[in-house]
Amino acid sequence: MAHFHVTSRAGEAQTLEGVDGWRLMELLRDHKMGIEGICGGQADCASCHIHVDPAWAGRLPEPREEEEDKLDELPSVTETSRLSCQIIWGEELDGLTLTVAPD
Ligand code: FES
Repeated sequence: MAHFHVTSRAGEAQTLEGVDGWRLMELLRDHKMGIEGICGGQADCASCHIHVDPAWAGRLPEPREEEEDKLDELPSVTETSRLSCQIIWGEELDGLTLTVAPD
């Protein structure tokens, strides 16, 4: 079973199990990692903002234009920012490491 490593806004680290075909946002939300997913995955609310470990940033699918546009609006955006609702879990993400972005 593939897993990923998350650090919460409070600095608490956890390792969570992935579920094939689920959005990363859904996994973070259901494990109560401080991700709300208000828009349900439409790249519209940015409540699912994460910072991906730099070692992983280039291994994820490229963001679509809607995601990039939304990220550009955020004060806490970084080079490795992503909207977790735009990342679909698969075994190839085993070991993914991320931090939940500040509000
Ligand atoms: S859940 Fe709204 S942007 Fe990701």
